[in-house]
Parts: sequence; C-alpha cells; structure tokens
Amino acid sequence: MSKVTVVGAGKYGSTTAQRIAEADVVDEVVMTDIVEGLPQGLALDMNQSRPVVGHRTKITGTNDYADTAGSDVVVITAGLPRKPGMSRMDLLEVNAGIVKQVTEAIVEHSPDAVLIVVTNPLDQMTTLAAEVSGFPRQRVLGQAGILDSSRFAHFISEATGADIQSVSAVTLGSHGDTMVPVPSQCRVGEQLLSEVLDAATIDELVDRTRKGGAEIVGLLKTGSAYYAPSAAAAAMAIAVVEDSGEQMPVCAWVDGEYGISGVYLGVMGELGSAGVRSVVELDLTEDELEALGGAATAVKEKVEDLRQIEL
Ligand code: LAC
Repeated sequence: MSKVTVVGAGKYGSTTAQRIAEADVVDEVVMTDIVEGLPQGLALDMNQSRPVVGHRTKITGTNDYADTAGSDVVVITAGLPRKPGMSRMDLLEVNAGIVKQVTEAIVEHSPDAVLIVVTNPLDQMTTLAAEVSGFPRQRVLGQAGILDSSRFAHFISEATGADIQSVSAVTLGSHGDTMVPVPSQCRVGEQLLSEVLDAATIDELVDRTRKGGAEIVGLLKTGSAYYAPSAAAAAMAIAVVEDSGEQMPVCAWVDGEYGISGVYLGVMGELGSAGVRSVVELDLTEDELEALGGAATAVKEKVEDLRQIEL
C-alpha cells in the first residue's frame, strides 16, 4: 500500500495530486487543506475522471491530518504565493508559520515519510521543515531545480528551434536571485549549449530563467505558476515512491560537497525511497562553482533571518 499526501489544495497542490494520481504508481493520494469542502470536492472530481484517464490511484480529500497517516511521501505546498512585484523572500514570515504547523501535524501521523517542500522561499522553508521534523536531512528535500532547469530548457528550445526533448538543462543554487543556471552542463542534442548559442544569448536566457517565476506571476496577476512546478514536484514524489535512483536537481542538504557545508541548496541529487540517496557532484567551471558558493552564502544569510522570526 503506497500513499502520498499533498498538503494544500490550491492550484499547485491539486495539480500535483492530479499528476501523481494520473501516473498510477501509488494506491492513494491524499489532499488536505484548511478550507472545508475544497479538497473533498477536488478529490471527488478527480476520482470521477479515472475511468476516462485510465488510472486506479484513489484520491482522498480531507481537512483532517489523521487521514494522512502512514504516508510514504508528503508534498508540502501550503502557504501563500507571491503577488506581482513581490520577491519570494517577502513570504518568509507568513509562510514560516504555516510550514512549521503543517510539518508538526504531518510528522505526528507519518513519522517515516519523505518530505518534499515546495513552499516559498523554498530553500528556507525546506530548512525549516527539516528542523521542525527532526527527520534525517536526507528525508527532507525541496523542489526547485527541476522546475528552474525545465524553464531553462524551454527557453533554450525556443531560442534554438531544437526539439524540447533533445534539450537537457541544469540549474543549481537557490530558487531565487542566486539561482545558478549551469550552461557547461547543458546540451542540445549532442552539442554543448555554447556551440549552439552565443554567450550574449545564453546570458539572456539565464536571466529570464532566474526571473522565470516572477514573469508568470506578473502575467497571471493573482497566484503563481503551477503547471511546471507541479510537474517537477510530482516527478520527485514518483522517484521516491518507485525508489528509482534517478538524478534530479533538487534542494538537498549539502554536507561537504563542492566544499560547501551545512546548508540546503539546489544540487543534483540521486533520489530513492529514503529521499536523497546522495548528492552528485557535477564537473562545474570555476565561475559556476563560485556562483554556487555565493548561493550557499545567500541562503545561509536568509536562514539567519528566519531564526529571528518568532514562530
Ligand atoms: C515559481 C514559484 C512556484 O518559481 O516559486 O513559479
């Protein structure tokens, strides 16, 4: 019996639940939210789509954490999204309170779960969930690198005209201003990105990737992106459930890799049933390594800000 819980039945949470259910790899997806009727209504609607979509995974909507008991994986999407003009960091205080409460409730009912955090500001909320849960660091990770890499890949595909499936892109670092897109690891077919695009164009795409979330917030006016974010969160949850050993860019606890220690940071992780099996060190250029070090410093500073908040 495998079970995944998604906390938060907003657009991000409900789309994540839908994607995991449609992958048909777990017995049950539980969606929980504080709004009465919302997760129940969405779950009923999703369950009724099963004969058409052709999956067996059952979706349960609830306001009661008791229904999440015994989850293998819990995706935490609870919290407020940005409004136009806001930085992810503007959400630090309000979302810290929410993530703390949610983590406590989850841990009580699913002491062996892997926690996947997507609430912003991502690197800090992942740190907070790890600390509040008391879980081994490997069992708590955050979603951002897959999303940012996917955005970068999309922009590369648009700029080169290459088939999206032939583009592989990597971003590391923080999910914010110190995001580190890694051109040296990006390929279009067999070719290096630098063989396909000039440096100025790559810089433009890097910049657009860094601001990728804000661009969508600005267009939507209310709420933030959820299709690509939920695709990323679902891919992580599925990799854990299936103990797949896939390597994905995720926010993981870094303890000595790249000469960096004691921080949750976007790195390549090998995912399995225990969460992050290992952090995989990529062969980065000196500039990329320096940028990663800068991201680690920036995340640590904001974690210090988090500690000033009374929760
Ligand atoms: C984004 C939010 C979800 O990047 O952080 O769209």
